[in-house]
Amino acid sequence: MSVKIQTLSGYFHEYQKSVIEPETFWDRIAETFHWKKRWNKTVEWNFEEPSIKWFLDGKLNITENMLDRYLFTAGDRTAIIWEPNEPDEPSRHISYRELYHMVCQFSHVLKDLGVGKGDRVIIYMPMVPEAAIAMMACARIGAVHSVVFAGFSSQALADRINDCSAKLVLTSDGNFRGAKKIGVKEVVDEALKQCVSVEKVVVYRRTGQDIKMVKDRDLWWHDAIKGKPTEIEAEEMDSEDMLYILYTSGSTGKPKGVVHTIGGYMVYTHFSFINVFQYNKGDIYWCSADIGWVTGHSYIVYGPLLAGATTVMFEGIPTYPHAGRFWEVIDKYKVNQFYTAPTAIRALEAFGQDPLLPFDLRSLKVLGTVGEPINEEAWHWYHDHVGKNKCPIVDTWWQTETGGILISPIASITPTKPSYATMPLPGIQPIIVDNEGNVLRGNSVEGNLCMKYPWPGMFRTTYGDHKRMHDTYFSQFPGLYFTGDGVKRDEDGYYRILGRVDDVINVSGHRMGTAEVENAINEHPRVVESAVVGYPHEIKGQGIYAFVIADMTDRTVANLTNEIKITVNQIIGPIAKPDKVQIVPGLPKTRSGKIMRRILRKIASGDYDNFGDTSTLLDPGVVEKIIETAKEG
Ligand code: WTA
Repeated sequence: MSVKIQTLSGYFHEYQKSVIEPETFWDRIAETFHWKKRWNKTVEWNFEEPSIKWFLDGKLNITENMLDRYLFTAGDRTAIIWEPNEPDEPSRHISYRELYHMVCQFSHVLKDLGVGKGDRVIIYMPMVPEAAIAMMACARIGAVHSVVFAGFSSQALADRINDCSAKLVLTSDGNFRGAKKIGVKEVVDEALKQCVSVEKVVVYRRTGQDIKMVKDRDLWWHDAIKGKPTEIEAEEMDSEDMLYILYTSGSTGKPKGVVHTIGGYMVYTHFSFINVFQYNKGDIYWCSADIGWVTGHSYIVYGPLLAGATTVMFEGIPTYPHAGRFWEVIDKYKVNQFYTAPTAIRALEAFGQDPLLPFDLRSLKVLGTVGEPINEEAWHWYHDHVGKNKCPIVDTWWQTETGGILISPIASITPTKPSYATMPLPGIQPIIVDNEGNVLRGNSVEGNLCMKYPWPGMFRTTYGDHKRMHDTYFSQFPGLYFTGDGVKRDEDGYYRILGRVDDVINVSGHRMGTAEVENAINEHPRVVESAVVGYPHEIKGQGIYAFVIADMTDRTVANLTNEIKITVNQIIGPIAKPDKVQIVPGLPKTRSGKIMRRILRKIASGDYDNFGDTSTLLDPGVVEKIIETAKEG
């Protein structure tokens, strides 16, 4: 049994131990897993280079801890419940035994296609169990998966494939999303025109729509698995071998490939999953994220399956075919722990309580949120109407880079406070610093959120460019991991996340680099320059506001703004499409040529006064002009 916290004093006790003797603390947890060879050293690290290693020289295969481990003791237990987009299409229940065989079978497919240890495999698939099977099959043979959210454009997909020189792409013919049927294979075909590393494409048939199969390159999933053995030896891997790469946005233009390694990630996702959600054997757990994001990796696939849990995978969207779809699924499977994003809660809150009424939600024990700050109103709605005042809300703060939840209540144990992520999990040592790097001690302080000690689940590098890891996260406050988030520690020592302090915005819980959106906008031939900022948005948390200088010859504002939105859609995907585009005569720049974003952020939020010191602006008049057009439009 791993360490499972049962009481608040137990939490404080474990927390103390984890800080005083981190190695003993993590050893005890790591020992509960199956290792082919035990590690020699628990941790070796410095945050200067940075270099982080856990469970050094340990040998293992993560899938043995997810599948083989449960094969004989709980082979019939349901591992994955799959709920399709259409409520009347049959659902699927996959037992641990079946999952084991499906993963082994697909591992053979990968091997036969020439994929080996260390090779990169792109998974660009809808929310079907086969996507999770593909992830585990990669892990089984030692290949590195990189899941790309299936809503990204062909250009974004090509960039990711090329960055990691992937050999294989796993995809589907199409994808059902609400009332829409979306072509997926055609996006892959388009992307692959720019990718020389890809040798094969395996296509899972989901929608049955017509697609083109490229001879000698493409094959169907169901043909590929035919006749393949359902057992395969699990490759012996080192703790610090790569498990996966997941691309995420940062403040510079190009998305970064965040790298997680096997041993530490395994220990941390399991530990955080069973503790935060207080998962008990037999519970039905549902995380509504997409496997294209880290939440799907850690808390749909790895954490739950390592714990032998039953994890629900939902293909659809919260509002199709009706606004009670989430509640219907909870009732249908008697879900005990439900984990979703504040943006979904706010969107559903807008429909009022009627959609909740037909469904029995009494099975719920724990509600979770992730991805962005949850406002108090949404917190109360979730608590009162979904949880009927009896389910604790775990507001879980973490990041792609952290691999798992770092600051969160432990369900039913940590007293909650609306909009607070509350306290760090054992093993996590947050520290708050001001902009000069001075440590802000004690309570009632506000500043930049950093970590001063490593934890097993943290990322190890940014793929192909280790310096970038250093420069992005470890250079601003030397010796510390800087998260990019602002935070407040209140009078009770509780943490409240205030949002990003860098040029990253959080749109519907998705991270978006403003520079990335600007680069896409600048691809439009008429665009001279652009500046993108976030602004408060009722449902999405933040919306995307683009200020654009453009050549307007033969164009109206309406058609140019529309074209710009289409351009971003094509280059990144619908999630990056600006909510507002304003054509401006100039941008507020300092004499040294730097755009004063704080002014644009104010204008975008509808605040046209109190710009503070604007004396360093090259042309203060430009602000008036921007305000004028902002007011008009
Ligand atoms: C934000 C998602 C407030 C934060 C797991 C972080 C949150 C970024 C919370 C990471 C929360 C995540 N409260 N803000 N509970 N959880 N964030 O990498 O700004 O997609 O830095 O990981 O989301 O987003 P990412």
